[in-house]
Amino acid sequence: MVYKMTIKEILPWAKEQLKYACERPLYEAELLLMYHMDRDRIYLKLHDNVIVENTKEFKELVERRAGHEPMEYITNTVSFYDIELYIASGALIPRPETEILIDRAYDIIEEHDIKAIAEIGVGSGAISVVLARKFPELQIVSSDISKDALSIATQNIKRFDLQNRIELRHTSLLDGIDTDIEMIISNPPYIAKNTPLAPNVAEYEPHTALYSQEKGDELLKEIILLAKERGVKYLACEMGYDQREPIQEFADSLGIKSIEFYKDFAGLDRGFVMRFVSYV
Ligand SMILES: C[S@@+](CC[C@H](N)C(=O)[O-])C[C@H]1O[C@@H](n2cnc3c(N)ncnc32)[C@H](O)[C@@H]1O
Repeated sequence: MVYKMTIKEILPWAKEQLKYACERPLYEAELLLMYHMDRDRIYLKLHDNVIVENTKEFKELVERRAGHEPMEYITNTVSFYDIELYIASGALIPRPETEILIDRAYDIIEEHDIKAIAEIGVGSGAISVVLARKFPELQIVSSDISKDALSIATQNIKRFDLQNRIELRHTSLLDGIDTDIEMIISNPPYIAKNTPLAPNVAEYEPHTALYSQEKGDELLKEIILLAKERGVKYLACEMGYDQREPIQEFADSLGIKSIEFYKDFAGLDRGFVMRFVSYV
């Protein structure tokens, strides 16, 4: 027989289980219980004598989190920019710093009235979906090499009814995509091979979304070269905090004059915008 526990009994138990897995164990225990009971936090506070049904299933959720599985994969939800996206283990969990990349792209799209862009490495669809929602006339073609990521992106595109605005392609970079593109945006894998990562990242997030090659900046450089060769006007990319120098050197070697780097919320270099427009 499974002993029935009330909300006020089960939360301290869950907090104890989570104490080594996260910084705010009680907060996360509440999040898991809210998800499990499909109730909000106020309900938990006001009804703490209520019995938690299906305790075994709740305990399984807590065990997953105690084993460092990210909360977003357990609840299949991630908040990003102004929306909630579906997320599952086949795609990278969109990060808050990627919202800065979107703001950079937003300024360019708005200023130059851009109508056609490509995203390389669409993952969950976070960037493409946010931009498509912001610019109702924008058409986006978005690639990924991961079928799992594309299936998650498909769900998010449907969730926001953007099937006519975002075209997904299972391909590397922009191989086989020959539509006119004014701008490329990308948050590619940029971590150097063998870089140790926290267990919640290393053990759960797809390595094809995280790691590039020996130095980490290889795919970024391929994307820069591609943007130049394709004759797009703008390129906006996220990058690693220590990649400004090699990216600047690479841009110089290609004769790219206009490159602006931007920083993240921690003040670290986090991305760049290149303009290939020639002013005559
Ligand atoms: C860092 S994740 C970014 C996902 C999403 N755009 C975001 O910002 O949350 C990088 C994505 O690039 C994809 N990727 C890796 N190599 C690629 C390539 N050569 N061509 C296209 N996509 C690639 C990965 O599968 C992954 O989904």
